[in-house]
Amino acid sequence: MASIDGSSGSDGALREAAATFALTDWPMNAWYAAAYDVELKHALLPRTIAGRSLVLYRKGDGTPIALENACWHRLLPLSEGHLEDDAVVCGYHGLMYNGEGRCVFMPSQQTINPAARVRSYPIAERHRFVWVWPGDPALADPDTIPDLHWNDDPEWAGDGGLIDVKCNYKLVVDNLMDLTHETFVHGSSIGHRSVAEVPFEVTHGPDGVTVTRWMLDVDPPPFWAMQLEWRHGRRFDRVDRWQIIHFEAPSTIAIDVGVAPAGTGAPQGDRSQGVNGFVLNTMTPQSPGACHYFWAFARNYNLDDQRITTLLRDGVAGVFGEDEEVLNAQQRSIDSNPDKQFYNLNIDGGAMWARRLIDSMIAAEGDDARYARASEQARAAALSEPATTRVEATEADRARLGI
Ligand code: FES
Ligand SMILES: [Fe+2]
Repeated sequence: MASIDGSSGSDGALREAAATFALTDWPMNAWYAAAYDVELKHALLPRTIAGRSLVLYRKGDGTPIALENACWHRLLPLSEGHLEDDAVVCGYHGLMYNGEGRCVFMPSQQTINPAARVRSYPIAERHRFVWVWPGDPALADPDTIPDLHWNDDPEWAGDGGLIDVKCNYKLVVDNLMDLTHETFVHGSSIGHRSVAEVPFEVTHGPDGVTVTRWMLDVDPPPFWAMQLEWRHGRRFDRVDRWQIIHFEAPSTIAIDVGVAPAGTGAPQGDRSQGVNGFVLNTMTPQSPGACHYFWAFARNYNLDDQRITTLLRDGVAGVFGEDEEVLNAQQRSIDSNPDKQFYNLNIDGGAMWARRLIDSMIAAEGDDARYARASEQARAAALSEPATTRVEATEADRARLGI
């Protein structure tokens, strides 16, 4: 069996995680989803993004605005105030700020102190999300917004939601980078023994990680059997199923998922008989113990059928509700076991690479020795290891899972 981190002479099964796993942090120089497009209106929306308290709103013409959520005068959150046309009026003494964060009115003053301003943040709207850049504004390039184009591509249809999870955002990254958990957490919908049983491949590069898993000639789980029936008007007993997870640092994951009737050529590239979806996920850290988890599910068939859009959105929301319970419980347990650390299994190969890339981004922003060390290790490992690693099922898997 190949070992996921390439360490020689190991049985590949269990090894200590890097010390950085105990740390909670995030890069500041990154685009983070701050709101779903439909959430943001001509009204004040407070939201915590990467540890910063922001107030968001749309101007009358729809332009999104993100300001620091603390009045320059006495620090009352501006979200406690109100909008007057396109300006924010503080709810305490009435200072008024424009969309650039500059104070444009002070009560009982002839002149406005030019230093009176709150910070404004780079903001951009793309793929149905409103993105904010909490770091150095000079580095904010909208071309680097994570690719979630399936969310507003006319060839795809779908919808999604937002979950406020009481866990570190990296725990959601772990969760999505290893879908083995489907077998155990989502048994009634998308779970299947074959997800835990079959081999998968992890491919990593400087900016992303891909985990690929094909399950050939398996019986379809209910979520997929239903969709094939919608598409073809009849049921199929056996399918070829795929899950291809794409991670884009620091916290965006697009998962290419689907099934096709077994033997119709999907693994070779012909998915024309199948049903294909993208599970879109982007996590925004709020604090070390909480994150905003934005998600959507987009499909490429029966695009005009709103009933399917709603059923799939509700189905996926139910699946993610199961994840939320696990993630909240995991964070509570981490908090009550501060001296313990994580261990990595072969199934964590994708998550390990994702965390290395996150650590590298954090290291690049500062000279903290802890992160610098992690970044060095990640770079060294990236140079010394093959880009793709295959992880096989074992005899014990087969015995345990009843194959
Ligand atoms: S605290 Fe905002 S105007 Fe005084
Ligand atoms: Fe899950």
